Amino acid sequence: MAFRSVCFPQFLRSLVGPGCSKAGACRYFAPRAASASKQACDPPSYRDDENADVDWENLGFSAVQTDFMYIMKCSKDENFVQGQLSRYRNIEFNPSAGVLNYGQGIFEGLKANRKEDGSLLLFRPDQNAIRMKIGAERMCMPSPSIDQFIEAVKQTALANKRWVPPPRKGSLYIRPLLIGSGPVLGIAPAPEYMFLTYASPVGNYFKVVKALIRARSQGFSDVLYLDSVNKKYLEELSASNIFIIKGNVIATPPTSGTILPGITRKSIIDIAYDLGYQVEERAISVDELIDADEVFCTGTAVGVGSVGSVTYRGRR
Ligand SMILES: Cc1ncc(COP(=O)(O)O)c(C=O)c1O
Repeated sequence: MAFRSVCFPQFLRSLVGPGCSKAGACRYFAPRAASASKQACDPPSYRDDENADVDWENLGFSAVQTDFMYIMKCSKDENFVQGQLSRYRNIEFNPSAGVLNYGQGIFEGLKANRKEDGSLLLFRPDQNAIRMKIGAERMCMPSPSIDQFIEAVKQTALANKRWVPPPRKGSLYIRPLLIGSGPVLGIAPAPEYMFLTYASPVGNYFKVVKALIRARSQGFSDVLYLDSVNKKYLEELSASNIFIIKGNVIATPPTSGTILPGITRKSIIDIAYDLGYQVEERAISVDELIDADEVFCTGTAVGVGSVGSVTYRGRR
C-alpha cells in the first residue's frame, strides 16, 4: 500500500523540528552556565564557541564519543542528592550488578538543538523525566526528581556544546540511563543505583533513513509491529509511534500495554487537536492502514516522518 504525497507530517515537522518555537514545548537555555557546571571535573581545553572536529554533513545515528557525562548515585531506599559531570569514560560494575544479572535498568532519549544565536534548545525534558519515574517505579528503582533529571540533561548538553551540530545539520542526542549498579545474587532490587547521562551528535534522521534505503535497495527501512494476540492491530515501529489520517480524523493506537508512550506522539496529538483535527486513540487494524489517506511516524530520532509505503504479506 502506498500513501498519497504527504503534507501533514511536513507541516508538523516545521512545528516540532529543531526550531520548535511554535509548539511552545522546548526549554531554552543559554551557554553561559556551562563553565560553572564543568567545574566538577577537569576544565575543558577548548573555547566555548569551538566546534568539535566532526563531518557535520555526514552524521549518522551512531555513538560518537563526546567529552563529558553526568553521574549521580544513591542507595536503595534513598533519594538521589547531588550528581556531577565527569570525563566521558568506561564505567566498571561488579559482575553481580543488578543491571547485568536481572536487567534492572531503563533508558530515555532526547535531543538538544542549536539555535542560530548559538544557544541550545531541549525538547520537553520534563516529559522524559516523568516517563523515567514511571519506568523506575515499575522496576523498583529510585529515580531522580524532575529537576535533577533536567539539570543533568542541561549540564550534559552544555558541557558537550562543541558536539552540538550547527542549526539544521542534526542534534545532540542525550541518553539518560538509570541502572541497578550494586551487587545482588538472589532476585531482588539492587542495593545501589546509578543515574548517568551521556550524549552523541546525530544527523537528521531522514538522511540516515535515505542512506539505509539506498544501502538496502531491496529491503525495508523499518518494521511496523502488529499486536501479538490478533496479529492485525498496529502497535509501533522500532523506535517510533504510528499515526494514520483519514479525512479530518487522525488516529493512533493507545499506549496502554506494549506501546511506548512517545513524547513526540503526545506533542503531535496536542497540536492536531489545536489544528482542529479529530484525534482518536484506539485500535487500528491493518485494513484501516491500507485505506488511510496518510501515514506517519513520530519519535525523538525521526521527529515526524512520512511513511511512503507499507508491505504486508508480500503486497506493497
Ligand atoms: C519503541 C519506541 N516507540 C516509540 C518511541 C518514540 O518515543 P519518543 O517520541 O518519546 O522519542 C521510541 C523512542 O525511542 C521507541 O523506542
